[in-house]
Formats: sequence, structure tokens, C-alpha cells
Amino acid sequence: MAFQTDFSSKTIGVNPIRCLELRLLFKWLNVDNKCKTFSNFGVESRFPNEEVALNTNAWPHVSCTACHNAPADHPTTLPSLSLFDSQTARYVHMDSASQLCGQCHGTLHFANTDHRIYDSWAASKHADTQTSVATELSQSRVGETPDDLIHGSDAENCIACHSPTAVLAAGGMTEVQAMSHFFVTANGVFATNTLSTNMFEWQGIACTACHDPHDTANLSYFNS
Ligand code: HEC
Ligand code: HEC
Ligand code: HEC
Ligand code: HEC
Repeated sequence: MAFQTDFSSKTIGVNPIRCLELRLLFKWLNVDNKCKTFSNFGVESRFPNEEVALNTNAWPHVSCTACHNAPADHPTTLPSLSLFDSQTARYVHMDSASQLCGQCHGTLHFANTDHRIYDSWAASKHADTQTSVATELSQSRVGETPDDLIHGSDAENCIACHSPTAVLAAGGMTEVQAMSHFFVTANGVFATNTLSTNMFEWQGIACTACHDPHDTANLSYFNS
């Protein structure tokens, strides 16, 4: 009875989450899962069973400014990767594209969401590719330069498969530069003690390795 009183003093129309929660509640209680029962409780405003969109021309969708914070002097200064947080009406800086995607496709912003693609990705090998590359470089590529590795007689393009978007780091670089930006060399060559470096910039096989953030409906490969 408590929540009935609660709802009669509120407008469900501005509280879709409560409405959904209550639909579930009624589902489990096997009473009525359509939300319409609330009319019996004297609630004036609620989502109808057949909801339609309003003001569709004004709805911005996931717009440019949901993901980019364009400064006042744009385009002199380029926009930074950010999430526009509708709860505070402020931008929150993002360190990587995957972290940005994980705000809505994972639990980074709303811990209880059931959209958890980011979380499964973060727990997968796709999010953890730098150490294995470093290990192999220190074992099988000792004495080779990053350029040998990408263009030499026994070339193998580690970046293209293990972290293609690595070339976007630090304002942009070539694959050869990325191999020396992310793996320690001694006198310009890989050595037995070659390790990973600049780990915080390495994105692994990022969301944007397989999805163009500007054309998400089509699967894409980011070619480094
Ligand atoms: C879902 C989030 C998202 C939306 C929406 C979005 N972008 Fe982006 N944008 C990104 C990401 C992620 C990158 C890649 C940045 C990186 O990985 O360093 C990017 C990169 C860019 C770049 C850098 C050049 C390039 O193409 O890589 C420009 C310019 C840009 N976006 C403009 C726009 C404009 C204009 C819109 C709206 C029409 C838009 N973006 C909408 C996420 C988004
Ligand atoms: C502000 C929240 C938000 C962010 C940030 C965001 N997305 Fe989405 N994305 C959505 C929503 C909402 C949908 C579903 C839209 C619908 O079906 O009405 C969606 C749909 C998608 C889809 C399904 C295919 C499609 O286009 O219908 C893909 C793939 C996708 N997003 C990838 C990404 C990637 C990759 C990033 C990071 C670069 C990203 N999204 C960032 C909210 C977001
Ligand atoms: C054509 C794409 C491709 C290229 C190029 C590539 N890799 Fe890989 N690598 C993969 C894939 C995919 C896996 C996942 C495991 C598998 O498929 O065997 C992998 C796995 C690995 C592993 C883990 C091996 C294991 O058995 O678990 C190491 C180490 C590795 N790669 C190092 C490198 C290094 C170093 C380079 C560059 C010299 C490189 N890879 C180039 C695609 C590639
Ligand atoms: C190795 C490539 C790869 C990576 C990395 C990747 N995805 Fe996907 N993603 C796919 C494929 C393949 C599909 C299935 C597309 C299809 O069936 O048309 C997909 C589907 C999706 C969908 C649609 C799911 C649905 O139910 O319709 C979303 C949203 C999405 N990915 C978001 C992400 C986000 C966010 C990340 C990073 C956390 C990510 N993806 C990383 C390859 C990838």
C-alpha cells in the first residue's frame, strides 16, 4: 500500500525507470505487467501501452556533442573525447574511445545497467594485448628495429592485429612509431629486456577497431 500512496502523489510520466521496475514487480507477482494497473491507484500521467515518440525533430539522438566537447575556439582547438553527462549538464573527459563507449554500453556510468558489452570486452583478451606482444618481441625479435618488424624481410604487423587504433595515440603516429612508442628499445632495437611502455595509451583491440564510431550500424575494421 505504501508505494501506491507514493505513486498517487507522483507523475510516472517523468519516471520511466519506476514504471519499468513496477512492470517487473507485477510480472513476478503475476498480477498485471502492463503498467496500466496504476490508473486504479489514481495516477494521472503514465506511459500508455502503445508509446509514441514526441518532438522527433528536436530529439538529438547520440549526437556529435554527446561524445565530443567542442571548445569555444573550435576548430583552432580540436574537440576532446568526452561524455556529455545529462545529469550534471557537463562534459566528463574520456581517456579512450572504449571508455567512452562503456559509459552507455557498459557499467561505467550506471553500475546496474544491463547493457554490458563493455564489461565483457574489458574482461576479454581483446582488452589485454600489449604484454603478449612485448614478450614475443623480447624472445623472437631481438636486434630488430621497429621498421624491420613492420617492413623488413620477416615483417609481421603486430599493431594492425593487436591494437590498430594505437596509431591514434598522442595525436597520431605511424605503425613503426607506434612500435617504438609502446615497446622499449635499446639503441633503437628490441632486446631481451624489451617491455611494454605508455600502457595507459594502449587501447588493445578497442571498440573502435571493429566499429566506426560515426557509422555504428555497419561493422568496420580500423586499418592502422
Ligand atoms: C558515439 C560517440 C561519437 C559520436 C556521436 C561522434 N563521435 Fe566523432 N569520434 C568519436 C571517437 C571515439 C573518435 C576517435 C577518437 C580516438 O579514438 O582518438 C572520433 C573522432 C572524430 C574526429 C577526428 C577525426 C576522425 O574522423 O577520426 C572528428 C573530426 C569527429 N569525431 C567529429 C564528429 C562529428 C562532426 C560528429 C557528429 C556528426 C561526431 N564526431 C560524432 C566518437 C564519436
Ligand atoms: C551516450 C550513449 C552512447 C555512447 C557514448 C555510445 N553509444 Fe552506441 N548506442 C547507444 C544507443 C542508445 C544505441 C541504440 C540506439 C537505438 O537502438 O535506439 C547504440 C547503438 C550502438 C550500436 C548498434 C548498431 C547501431 O548503430 O544501431 C553499436 C555497434 C554501437 N552503439 C557502438 C558504439 C561504440 C563503438 C561507441 C563508442 C565509440 C558507442 N556506441 C558509444 C548509445 C551510446
Ligand atoms: C594477422 C594478425 C596478427 C598479426 C600480424 C600478429 N598477430 Fe599476434 N595474434 C593474433 C591473434 C588473432 C592472436 C590470438 C591467438 C591466436 O589466434 O592464435 C594472437 C596472439 C599472439 C600472442 C599470444 C600467443 C598465444 O599463443 O597465446 C602473441 C605473443 C602475439 N600474438 C604476438 C605477436 C607479435 C609480437 C606480433 C608482431 C611481430 C604479432 N603477434 C602479429 C593476430 C596477429
Ligand atoms: C573484435 C571486433 C569487435 C570489438 C573489439 C567490439 N565489437 Fe561490438 N560487435 C562486433 C561484432 C562482430 C558484432 C555483431 C554485429 C552483427 O551481428 O551485425 C558486434 C555488435 C555490437 C553491438 C550490437 C549488439 C546488438 O545486440 O545488436 C554493440 C552495441 C557493440 N558491438 C558495441 C561494442 C562496444 C561498446 C565495444 C567495446 C567495448 C565493442 N563492441 C567491441 C565486433 C566487435
